[in-house]
Amino acid sequence: MVTTMKSDVEMELTLVPDVSGLLHEQSERSKRIKMSASDVKVFYGETQALHGVSMEIMENEVISFIGPSGCGKSTFLRCLNRMNDTIEGARVEGRIILDDQNIYDTALDVVQLRAQVGMVFQKPNPFPKSIFENIAYGARLHGLAEKKADLADIVESSLRRAGLWSEVKGRLDQPGTGLSGGQQQRLCIARAIAVNPEVILMDEPCSALDPIATSVIEELIDELKRNFTIIIVTHNMQQAARVSDRTAFFHLGDLIELEKTADIFTNPKNKRTEDYITGRFG
Ligand SMILES: Nc1ncnc2c1ncn2[C@@H]1O[C@H](COP(=O)(O)OP(=O)(O)OP(=O)(O)O)[C@@H](O)[C@H]1O
Ligand SMILES: [Mg+2]
Repeated sequence: MVTTMKSDVEMELTLVPDVSGLLHEQSERSKRIKMSASDVKVFYGETQALHGVSMEIMENEVISFIGPSGCGKSTFLRCLNRMNDTIEGARVEGRIILDDQNIYDTALDVVQLRAQVGMVFQKPNPFPKSIFENIAYGARLHGLAEKKADLADIVESSLRRAGLWSEVKGRLDQPGTGLSGGQQQRLCIARAIAVNPEVILMDEPCSALDPIATSVIEELIDELKRNFTIIIVTHNMQQAARVSDRTAFFHLGDLIELEKTADIFTNPKNKRTEDYITGRFG
């Protein structure tokens, strides 16, 4: 006879609350909010590129931005360190808070902000200077080194953290532009790290790199998230799945969905997210 009665052991098990899940949720909740954007709208002249984007970015998380070309990923990324200020005709509305500071406050020092919220671009863009100077320049500008020896320390530690030191330590006086593409991108990451950032923005940092250089950068991102908050724009969904804790899907200037990366790729809530990740458009 088949019985549907539960055994005592099964009964007991169902009564034990799922403490591990609870603790996990609590620790997720107790993470500190690093940046918070409310109703961010961006206009290029008359054209509106972002229609009111709000999101919270947690400390030490890696968050990916995905979505079809032209949906506003780079535009939103640039809002986070006021790089849109440099674009003629661009206008930003809404509020963005870093820790407890409004970054659009008129009294704010934008140069300092861009050190706190550093940026790495799609195409590696070393300065036309030596490897050493590429790193030392920002550190000097921000008064981080009093002595020459301090500067050398900053250069070495930044290159080490960017995983480039062993490859370049014998040729620090040579031009940064003489490095391979993947090395140049790590040099740009080292340059961003050298000024003690808290957040690093990366706009398609691997799109010009081969698969080996890409995997080096991805490993680096995993290492860097211990100390920094990282926001990465990528067209490579496998990359988003590999590197990020949460993923944001943008479409036509709106943030459609922001969830844990595993949920976005296995169980998206929105039909447009599902259509995009299954390759129905984009
Ligand atoms: N400097 C600019 N001047 C005018 N319009 C712009 C400018 N930069 C972006 N746009 C427009 O804003 C919209 C969003 O562009 P954005 O570059 O943010 O998209 P994206 O999601 O980063 O695309 P991609 O994946 O191709 O890099 C697009 O319609 C684009 O044409
Ligand atoms: Mg872009």
